[in-house]
Amino acid sequence: MSMLNKKRVYDLDVADKKVLVRCDFNVPMEDGAITDDRRIVSALETITYLTEHDAKVILMSHLGRPDKKYDPTFSMKPIAKRLSELLKKEVPLAEDENVVGEHAKELVSNMNKGDVILLENVRFVKGETKNDLEFAKALASLADLYVNDAFGTAHRAHSSTAGVAQFLPSAMGFLIEKEVTVMGKALVNPDRPFVAILGGSKVSDKISVIENLLDKVDTLVIGGAMAFTFAKAIGTKVGISKVEEDKVEVAASLLERAKEKGVRLILPLDYHVTTEFSDATESFITDDANIPDGYMGLDIGDKTIQEFEAVLKNAKTVVWNGPMGVFEMDKYAVGTKAVAEILSHLDAVTIVGGGDSTAAVEKLGYADSITHISTGGGASLEFLEGKVLPGIDAISDR
Ligand code: 3PG
Repeated sequence: MSMLNKKRVYDLDVADKKVLVRCDFNVPMEDGAITDDRRIVSALETITYLTEHDAKVILMSHLGRPDKKYDPTFSMKPIAKRLSELLKKEVPLAEDENVVGEHAKELVSNMNKGDVILLENVRFVKGETKNDLEFAKALASLADLYVNDAFGTAHRAHSSTAGVAQFLPSAMGFLIEKEVTVMGKALVNPDRPFVAILGGSKVSDKISVIENLLDKVDTLVIGGAMAFTFAKAIGTKVGISKVEEDKVEVAASLLERAKEKGVRLILPLDYHVTTEFSDATESFITDDANIPDGYMGLDIGDKTIQEFEAVLKNAKTVVWNGPMGVFEMDKYAVGTKAVAEILSHLDAVTIVGGGDSTAAVEKLGYADSITHISTGGGASLEFLEGKVLPGIDAISDR
């Protein structure tokens, strides 16, 4: 895979050099406070390597989706504060509203070896998300070298991810290297049996992933609301469950292709159902996969959990992306939590991606028992789809 031929951070001579590092510090925030700093923590290995090798480190990232102009709600200030705490040294923020401004230039010119600074949110600049090369050039003008470690944003061809690599010698950081290596091995040369568990609400989000995985996995397990579109395709009663009517045919053809390829595709055997999208209405678990009229499935049932466990028990590689039910409601988080727990006990390479699945694993305290928790949502899906990620593709070859 071409992504593995890219330069690594240790291929660069970084001593006394200004190194511009793209991270994905797009962390969840509530009322101005960071609620989960995993993406920041995941970037520390590269940052520390660089400071220990006498580089001057200029960090940059986006945060949220500001309206392509300065907006204090999306300022990187809380990130600079958290970075200072984690690195145990002051990480000043260059407060320029246009990102590459006088303050940034002044901070850079005063840097000593081992110093770290942070630029403002790159999405304050209009051209960023269009991969405007003028902005990429301005970013590059601050530094001698470019390191991309923003795996979560590697599927975006933006000025700060892809564009900037046109103007500086570049390499991938340790986080991108780890993500690409672990997930790459699962796709290219997995230990078998290889089982993928896909959930979430929409088949449409996962069609390309399923298509790509059908060539690689031994078993494909489907949960979450997307299971209803498949259920409808095989004639199971779905009640008023969420079905993507325009994707029923696609689901049918994916089932057909799974059969042709000898991939076992497992759908839920029972569901936790109720009459409204609410945790306040009365609910029960169905006897089988048929959902009565007037009811909707909001989680998988016990038999399904047992079946999934039986399949996963023998797996040697597992990729999981997407919740099994309406994880936001405790009552319907049972299936998602069960899958997280089952994975934590497996003697297998376990890879978890996507916001809800990773949140489940972390909340339940299983993170240390999982081989790899991807920091990418969209990026890890596109990787599993077999797509080339532009942020990695732009990096210099070895
Ligand atoms: C993510 O959270 O998936 C990445 O940070 C990319 O963010 P985006 O979807 O706003 O480009």
